[in-house]
Amino acid sequence: MKNVAILLSGRGSNFLALSDAITAGKIPARIVLVVSNKPDAPGLTHARERNYEAVCVPSKGIKREAYDRQVVKELQARQVDVICLAGFMRLLSSWFVQQYPRQILNIHPSLLPAFPGLHSQKQALEWGAKVSGCTVHFVDEKLDHGPIIVQRSVPVLDEDTEETLSARILEQEHQIYPEALKLVCEERVRFQERLVVILK
Ligand code: GRF
Repeated sequence: MKNVAILLSGRGSNFLALSDAITAGKIPARIVLVVSNKPDAPGLTHARERNYEAVCVPSKGIKREAYDRQVVKELQARQVDVICLAGFMRLLSSWFVQQYPRQILNIHPSLLPAFPGLHSQKQALEWGAKVSGCTVHFVDEKLDHGPIIVQRSVPVLDEDTEETLSARILEQEHQIYPEALKLVCEERVRFQERLVVILK
């Protein structure tokens, strides 16, 4: 059983998908902490409604590493094994990443390495991509860069808007994030350089 922490900044729909899968007994994990850097994040409210321990560590005006030290303190106090970034809109410092090597997961709404950064769905539309999707990857010291655990593609339709494409991708995000967390918690991932091999 792994102790999982969720870091979020907003809506929290990926957090809820992870919570649902864990509650349904699909993942050998428990959510021991939800952290938001935004006091008014709806995800924080959802976490409290579900009776998770949920804290706000406000990030406004605080230097990156000083902030990360505050968050890591909260994580260490709960003996966190795995961290899931779920719409956490802050870049982690190298120091943070080094505290949890290959233990931090992120979900990104494109098929990385295409369209990293913000507004990936808009980037895909503007590029004229015919296919996009989502990626769950380990976090390393560069943005949207670490080893890929699971990806899922979705078609991009001619009539898509940023909203319709985002909704189609989000549906798949809610599928693959629990799948990826399950693989990690079951210790079924092995590394060959940056290739993640999944054990059957
Ligand atoms: C998702 O699109 C995720 O891929 C990206 O931020 C968004 C978070 O949405 N990293 P939610 O807060 O999980 O609903």
